[in-house]
Amino acid sequence: MAMERTLVLVKPDAVRRGLSGEIIARLEHRGLVLRGARLVQVDEQLADAHYAEHRGKDFFAGLVSFITSGPTLALVVEGESAVAAVRSTMGATDPARSAPGTIRGDLGLSMPDNLVHGSDSLESAARELALWFPELEDETV
Ligand code: RTP
Ligand code: MG
Repeated sequence: MAMERTLVLVKPDAVRRGLSGEIIARLEHRGLVLRGARLVQVDEQLADAHYAEHRGKDFFAGLVSFITSGPTLALVVEGESAVAAVRSTMGATDPARSAPGTIRGDLGLSMPDNLVHGSDSLESAARELALWFPELEDETV
């Protein structure tokens, strides 16, 4: 059993559409557990730090304006192999190419409105959780 914690963001498009509950339900129904939650109005500084790996790419400015366009619901999600479980529950990055049955494949259709973010590795999860939930830094899973 590899218990893990990962960061999930319910992005501004999903919060605007009233899909926060639906997205949380899908994660919880899979067996994942919420360990933290916060509604955040993301500023440019947090957006830049969160998406640091994409600095310099042509879609970076659009990414920052999207994630700062309204409230984002940040979640600490825990469970066995939580990083991979969240990623498979979310579906592929582009909703148009996401499989039915996934959050993006059932609820979205076009970029940049892909509804959710999930950390892509344990290393990313540790970095992102420290950024979004610094008060949890000393807790162990
Ligand atoms: P996320 O980080 O949001 O969970 O999504 P992801 O791992 O599936 O995708 P990633 O490659 O990390 O990209 C982060 C976000 O950047 C936007 N993006 N746009 N126009 C493009 O080619 C493009 N590629 C990525 C998306 O909003 C994606 O969620
Ligand atoms: Mg990513």
